[in-house]
Amino acid sequence: MSKFWSDIVHKLTPYVPGEQPKLDNLVKLNTNENPYGPSPKVIEALKLEATDTLRLYPDPNSDALKVAIAGVHHLNTNQVFVGNGSDEVLAHVFQALLKHSRPLLFPDITYSFYPVYCGLYDIEYQTMPLAEDFTINVDDYDQPNGGIIFPNPNAPTGIPLALVEIEKLLKKNTQSVVVVDEAYVDFGTESAVGLINTYPNLLVTHTLSKARSLAGLRVGYALGHPDLIEALMRVKDSFNSYPIDRFASAGAIAAMQDVEYFEETTRKVVETRATLVTDLTKLDFDVLPSGANFIFAKHKVKDGAELTALLRQKNIIVRHFKSPSRIAPYLRITVGTDEQSRILASSLSELL
Ligand SMILES: Cc1ncc(COP(=O)(O)O)c(C=O)c1O
Repeated sequence: MSKFWSDIVHKLTPYVPGEQPKLDNLVKLNTNENPYGPSPKVIEALKLEATDTLRLYPDPNSDALKVAIAGVHHLNTNQVFVGNGSDEVLAHVFQALLKHSRPLLFPDITYSFYPVYCGLYDIEYQTMPLAEDFTINVDDYDQPNGGIIFPNPNAPTGIPLALVEIEKLLKKNTQSVVVVDEAYVDFGTESAVGLINTYPNLLVTHTLSKARSLAGLRVGYALGHPDLIEALMRVKDSFNSYPIDRFASAGAIAAMQDVEYFEETTRKVVETRATLVTDLTKLDFDVLPSGANFIFAKHKVKDGAELTALLRQKNIIVRHFKSPSRIAPYLRITVGTDEQSRILASSLSELL
């Protein structure tokens, strides 16, 4: 607290990211990073970028990156917005498209950054309870609103929502923006990107932090109707003209272009996830169906917080959420390599 703080700062409850401990020999399964490094072509592109041109500002519009992203998604470049991680893209989305007189709607169990943005931008919101089995019921969102946002697959549950349900939601909700946060979509969830040319109020956000192994580079993007993209550009150009630096641009372009590497690494993660689910089920865990690079699992007897602490003593970190109480029994476990999964399963079997 300080008399120098503005009123809004006093009221903020900032987001708390998963920890990044500076310890060796950790099995780090807490922040949904990719266990595989970025494509070798990304490393090559980054090395080439380390030149004298760093004295110059980057392209404020990131045109070359937009071309690469638009190419992958079969869209036009005026349907693409890029930012410093999808968190920054989302922040602009909240301010540019989701702040209206009616409340923004999102699930009660979801990405915990959403209420933080509402606090920062003073956006009224209402949370919609997930069903008993943690699924989203789109009929719940059939009410006046200033916008709708949810991740697909949802986080931290990992449960995917079928494309037909998203389309149902879009058909009923034509008067406000529907944002589908597809941070984890590449690990086996159907993408809504194909609906963008049909629904002018649909905005889809993606990140290069997960399936493209670039959490350290900070690149995310939004895809949607040019009018929605223009709103984001207006906010971005009132905030930071150069969110994508020269390294981020070069690395992200190479990552988007190396489709083969992306497909191979996501396939490996999905295969490891299947083995992990089988192993944990044998150890008496209930695992929610996952379309993400993480699973959400609860042991039939042992408490979630206790298991998290016990795993930590064995140098394995997973994520645990104390609230809401409905998810307190669960562990959110990032899918790592086969070797990391083996260490996790054998440690759990010793502990249980
Ligand atoms: C649902 C969801 N959306 C967005 C993000 C933000 O990703 P980034 O800022 O790394 O692009 C995350 C990060 O974990 C996430 O879980």
